[in-house]
Amino acid sequence: MQYSEKVMDYFMNPRNMGEIENASGVGTVGNAKCGDIMKIYLDIDDEGVIRDAKFKTFGCGAAIATSSIATELVMGKTIDEAIGFTNQAVTEALDGLPPVKVHCSLLAEDAVRAALWDYSQKKGITLDGLVPPSDHDHDHHHDFDDDDE
Ligand code: FES
Repeated sequence: MQYSEKVMDYFMNPRNMGEIENASGVGTVGNAKCGDIMKIYLDIDDEGVIRDAKFKTFGCGAAIATSSIATELVMGKTIDEAIGFTNQAVTEALDGLPPVKVHCSLLAEDAVRAALWDYSQKKGITLDGLVPPSDHDHDHHHDFDDDDE
């Protein structure tokens, strides 16, 4: 399997690994098929800007790389911008992912959304365009390479 240099770099030297105490929102997602788990913490200020983001991932190298770069990509963004965050942004920032590893980047997208959802629940607010994490399951419409398990 061919990984880009960037994926290897973020896997070997993950940025923003760890947790945020009293985070504004925490999102935990998992992929039932590979068993990988990703947790993203967001610190959101009163203006609705993401000031800090951290991650903890129990998973494959691509999951670590995608969650790490996801924290960098959402930092400094507004909530609205972060809602529009997609796994494409992740794969582009990493100079691509092997096809069998694209689901790892979807996990990162879901984890960011789940953290935003948690934030909205804690605040008691509705964020346009954000659905509950359970309604956002990629597994049903995403191919997974069984050889990789
Ligand atoms: S997140 Fe499942 S193999 Fe990478």
